[in-house]
Amino acid sequence: MTAQSDWTALLLRWFDANRRDLPWREARPRNPYHVWVSEIMLQQTRTETVKDYFRRWMDQFPTLEALARAPEEQVLRAWQGLGYYSRARNLHKAARQVMVDYGGEMPRDARTLESLPGIGAYTAGAIASMAFGQKVPAVDGNLLRVLARLYGVDQDIASTAGKKTLTGLAEAAIPADRPGDFNEALMDLGANVCIPKVPRCAQCPLRDTCQAFQENRTDQLPVKRPKAPQKEFAAACGLVVREGKFLLHKRPGKGMLASMWEFPMVLGKAETEARQGLETLLQTRAGECLWEHKHVFTHQIWYMKAYILEGGTVPEGEYGFFSPEEWEQIPLAGPHAKLAAFLKKGVDSKERV
Ligand code: ADE
Repeated sequence: MTAQSDWTALLLRWFDANRRDLPWREARPRNPYHVWVSEIMLQQTRTETVKDYFRRWMDQFPTLEALARAPEEQVLRAWQGLGYYSRARNLHKAARQVMVDYGGEMPRDARTLESLPGIGAYTAGAIASMAFGQKVPAVDGNLLRVLARLYGVDQDIASTAGKKTLTGLAEAAIPADRPGDFNEALMDLGANVCIPKVPRCAQCPLRDTCQAFQENRTDQLPVKRPKAPQKEFAAACGLVVREGKFLLHKRPGKGMLASMWEFPMVLGKAETEARQGLETLLQTRAGECLWEHKHVFTHQIWYMKAYILEGGTVPEGEYGFFSPEEWEQIPLAGPHAKLAAFLKKGVDSKERV
């Protein structure tokens, strides 16, 4: 049996009874700024985590204008812990652009939205359909999985060709009267029913039209090429303390963790290389290792070690000494926030003794 477009009616009926209550879905009519911020946060982060970040974000930056007016450090600070900070920087940049180019009103069509920093086809489709009722799909990884099963598509969902096929199928199926609900219904189905490993087909409203279910192939679809392995690095971090303050470095404005603060750090292929690099950078010997941590990014893994360094010279560039209280005010790069939390615990418990 081939999947038919009348599955959309079944899907929407299921959505009406089973939609998730999420903070960015509360405003009526839907608030484009809320949709936008939530979509950016949700790109690499679990829904449960995003809920709290989203609420705090809206307390701090309740409108697009408030976000545009905020200094970048405050924006990055509010993002701290979510990772992939270019998302926050682009959100901020785009908010400023909307103020200047569109008088503070979010553009309504997907094409114009896509011209803003950090907004790709998926996010543009999500905003245009959910906030403005435009008939455009929003096909992310979850939708690719659901559609590949529903239509029995064997193409690799990570390939351009596979994405094109599945986006075309979504485009053909999207109903003109409820495009935003259609996209969100597929997201909820992907999150709760058509889940990656063992889908809950017994609960699925689309079982009868799902090709993968009919052919007993839900474990074979979607087809997905394995990811390239992550690059591994040893990361030596320096703890240089002066009068209770620790030396920190602001990372360059471009690249990974751009503009975030870190303990002075040198990466190397092996531990010795990284430690020696750190000793050269700070011109002193690395002492005791106080902390170890494995940090997994999408493309890299850091095996981190933090060493005490006595004396030393502050290198050229953006370096400064900050107290543990001051760490609260600046955006710390994710793995370094872990080290900061470890040190703070030590500082606090020493104070209590
Ligand atoms: N994931 C991405 N966008 C979403 C949305 N609007 N609702 C629920 N989950 C999502």
